Amino acid sequence: MKRIGMLTSGGDCQALNATMRGVVKGLYGSFKEVEIYGFLEGYKGLMYGNYKLLKAEDFSGILTKGGTILGSSRQPFKLMREPDANGLDKVKAMKDTYKKLKLDCLVVLGGNGSQKTANLLSEEGLNVIGLPKTIDNDLWGTDMTFGFQSAVDIATDAIDCIHTTAASHGRVFIVEIMGHKVGWITLYAGIAGGADIILIPEIPYDIKNVCKALDRRTKQGKRFSILAVAEGAISKEVASLPKKERKALLENSKYPSVAYEIADQIKAYNGQEVRVTVPGHTQRGGSPCPYDRVLSSRFGAKAAELIKKEKYGELVVLKNNEVTSIPLSESAGKLKYVSAKDSIVQNARMLGISFGDE
Ligand code: F6P
Repeated sequence: MKRIGMLTSGGDCQALNATMRGVVKGLYGSFKEVEIYGFLEGYKGLMYGNYKLLKAEDFSGILTKGGTILGSSRQPFKLMREPDANGLDKVKAMKDTYKKLKLDCLVVLGGNGSQKTANLLSEEGLNVIGLPKTIDNDLWGTDMTFGFQSAVDIATDAIDCIHTTAASHGRVFIVEIMGHKVGWITLYAGIAGGADIILIPEIPYDIKNVCKALDRRTKQGKRFSILAVAEGAISKEVASLPKKERKALLENSKYPSVAYEIADQIKAYNGQEVRVTVPGHTQRGGSPCPYDRVLSSRFGAKAAELIKKEKYGELVVLKNNEVTSIPLSESAGKLKYVSAKDSIVQNARMLGISFGDE
């Protein structure tokens, strides 16, 4: 009998259910008897002993279903060693639940913070396998996380829709795209949607360069321009500030988000009409795209294979189109950023896309 715990942690994304289905299909094919315990709302379920014993039927028909059948929550890694409001030792509580259920392995579907906690639990002696989830694609050690391509599809759709209205009215449009501190979704959706200017956190912009790029478009006879702006985009000026000052400045900004500030600056520069569109959480919603269905099914199968081989403490990853695994400790605490030197950035520049840095 194999007893496997599973949880989905952090911000949700489209292929969480598809991934769990992949794990479970792999397990049912590998062992005569399997018990799957699903912890509700991420690590919270493991801490407070909220779980469901799941049956094969629970995983049926969920390949295309967005969200997570287990629910999710954010349990910041930096607070894991701090007791909860009632003085509960969270790490001990999670270990106790694992032991009480006599689990052979805990499978964690999560992004950066969640995989740091997975590594902590692994270091504490639990058998843990991590699966790389996040629309942001910022998990170090994998070429691709599941959820990313689905989010790119949605953000691209948003830019596509904006194109026709921008062209009709001759306006400047800013589409603000999710991604937290990294620019992967913005970069991919920006290129896929034919954005003229792409602003991402890893390449700080100068508003003068952004305005010059708009002028160039006007001189070419273009009546409209589209900017794909990452929610974490940052100006050179702000990027040069010490971390504390930068944080305070961003927190006290009069704008709801960076796109609105850039819109005001463009209006002040050339009086052009500017509109802002924020697709927001739609980027995490709906059905996973076919790419993600394949990727997450492969990831799930790999997790089952690792459990079969009793190879624990691993994060399933995609490397050069091969699904493989690396130690959780190798990835924990590192973010995968876009680099200005990446060939995709160079390709984009060749296409005439401005990053507002030069
Ligand atoms: O990490 C995924 C993500 O969607 C980020 O792109 C975004 O910054 C964040 O989560 C939003 O978090 P929340 O759902 O807690 O508002």
